[in-house]
Order: sequence, then structure tokens, then C-alpha cells
Amino acid sequence: EKGEYRHFMEKEIHEQPDSVQHTLSEYLDLVTGTAKTNTIDFAAIDRIQIVACGTAFYAGQIGRYAFEKLAGLPCDVEIASEFRYRSPAVTQKTLAVAVSQSGETADTLASLIWCKAQGLNTAAVVNVHSSSMARVAAVLWPTHAGPEIGVASTKAFTAQVAALLALAVAAGVARGRIDAAREAELVKALFESPRLIAEALTMGDSIRAVVQDLAKADDVLFLGRGAMFPLAMEGALKLKEISYIHAEGYAAGELKHGPIALIDEETPTIALAPLDDVFEKTASNLQEVAARGGPVIMIAPEKAPDLHGAGIRRIHAPDCHPLIAPLVYAVPVQLLAYYTAVQKGTDVDQPRNLAKSVTVE
Ligand code: F6R
Repeated sequence: EKGEYRHFMEKEIHEQPDSVQHTLSEYLDLVTGTAKTNTIDFAAIDRIQIVACGTAFYAGQIGRYAFEKLAGLPCDVEIASEFRYRSPAVTQKTLAVAVSQSGETADTLASLIWCKAQGLNTAAVVNVHSSSMARVAAVLWPTHAGPEIGVASTKAFTAQVAALLALAVAAGVARGRIDAAREAELVKALFESPRLIAEALTMGDSIRAVVQDLAKADDVLFLGRGAMFPLAMEGALKLKEISYIHAEGYAAGELKHGPIALIDEETPTIALAPLDDVFEKTASNLQEVAARGGPVIMIAPEKAPDLHGAGIRRIHAPDCHPLIAPLVYAVPVQLLAYYTAVQKGTDVDQPRNLAKSVTVE
């Protein structure tokens, strides 16, 4: 039941402090401040191949940044519908990981079965623990988002991201890349995310103040760097799905290689700009957008420096450890899409042409 909420999507967005907490507890020990390293032999693999579709594909891309940075594990992420038909080259020490809310998505399941037939070790990050993927994979890596009713995925996405980030820490520890002090720091940061997600949920008012303009747009650009790049693509997907506004997510550094030609007074740019080591780079991209008359909505912590340039509106996000920024910034991204759709009066929980589970290709 929706209870006090207008839509399941709104309810599920607000459940994220709990669903992320619950998922993290599967992979991390809050009492000892350590990661559980025994779910798989991370020292026995030399590559990860993630396969997924849609929102789960973006979660996988966020996971990739963490596996490579924290565990030194080469990681590829591919859309399952491409992976399964292109005869990919895989090496025997590759771990194949399917990421899926339903565990039934036809292309992801077929990719997983194919990897298993190649003799690869397999794991499935799934929310439905009795699903086909859960049964096929050698290792089940559950997410604990609970049932997701809204067709547009929200809490399943952050649960996938939480699981992958925690697993990347575990992989880094198991592979000797993360010492005890760093492990304690990263585990603590992850366990701070439910509180910071709850804080991000209070951004509703400042987000509602910009959706009037957003709802009028025909095209919206989402920009980010690092793990904020896949989150930018997820933001664009959410907006497309439920408000039917054309949106694209781009790596901020790609702007000048094409998409800057789209910028005009009618095309808003939403920037995901946590205070990380690439903040200054993103900031200068935003100034380029503003200089061309494009309205900019910059989501960044309050303590981030002010940018020069007319037309840059700021929405304050909670300040957080860079590792958990994709979890915290997922909230404003989801709320932007949600309130824009409400403003447009679309069917938020049942967007046109979409099904919750895509079991045919
Ligand atoms: C977007 C969305 C879809 C799914 C995709 C994969 O909001 O929900 O893009 O993420 O269809 O579904 P699962 O995760 O069930 O494999």
C-alpha cells in the first residue's frame, strides 16, 4: 500500500535509507567495521564482466569505477542485449556478474547462462532471491530493497549500487589493496549513507522550485564525471521514462565534443557535482554552458565554491564521502524526475509503453 504517499515511486524513493542499510548489512559488518570477504574468492579472479539492462546497467557502471579503483580489478560492463549476440571474448579467470532487480530480464539471464556455459564463475546481484538468475548463478549476491512496484526503478537501483560498492571494498581487502585503516574508513562511509540519503530526501522543496522550468523543456542534459557520469545517464533515463521529456546523460568532459551544440536558453543542464577530485573540472564545464546562455541547475554541497556565470542555480546536497556520492546523489536525481512527472500529470507508476519486467527480448 502507498500509505501517506501519492505514488509507489514516491514511497519507494523514501524507503531508501532502510533498503540501503539492509543491503549494506549483507556485505559489511557494522560492529567490526569490516567487509565480508568470504562470498567469493576475489584473489582467484582477474577480471569482472558485468551484464545488465537499463537502470541495472548504470548501477553496474558505478560498480565498475569502484572495483577498478579500490580492488585494482579490471571490470567491463555491458548491456546484456549486446553482450549475448556479439561473441564476446572472455578469459577463464573472469567473474561474470549479472545485475538485475527482477532476476528475470531475458537478455541478462541469457548472458549469464552463456557465461556459465563458457566455464566462468558467475554471480548475480538480484533483488528477487527466488528468480531465475539467482538459481543460475553460482553465487547469489542479494539486494534487500523489498518488492518494487513502481515501474521506474529507484530503491532497487540504490540497493544494487550499495551492494556493488560494498563488494568492491571486500574485493580490495581480499586482494591486499586496502589496509585495515582504509577498510574501516570506507565501511564507515558506506554505513553513513542511509543517514545522508535521509538528509537528501529533505531536498524536495528546493527541487520542486525548479521543476516548473524543467517540465517546460523539450530536452534536458545531465552531466557528471566519475561515478556521477553513469548516475547522469540514470537521471536522464528516469526523466525520459516518467515525464516523457527527452534527456541525455553525458560525461561532463565530453560536452565540447558535440553536445554543447544543443545548448540554448531552452535546454536546461543538470549537473551532479559532489566535492570530489574532479569538482573543478565539472565546474569549468558548467561555466561553458552558462556562457552560452544555457540554464544550469548545479547539485552540489553548500560548501562548494560559487561559480561565476549568470543562470547557474544551485541545489544543496548533503556533503559526503566520495565513495557514497552515487547513493546520496541518486535521491535528487530521482526526485527531479518524480516531481517533473507529477507537474506534467503523467502516470508515474505505470509509464506508457513500459513493463516492470522484460522477460521477452
Ligand atoms: C528503469 C528500469 C529498467 C530496468 C531494466 C532491467 O527504471 O526499471 O531500465 O532497470 O528493465 O530490469 P531488471 O533490473 O529487472 O533486470
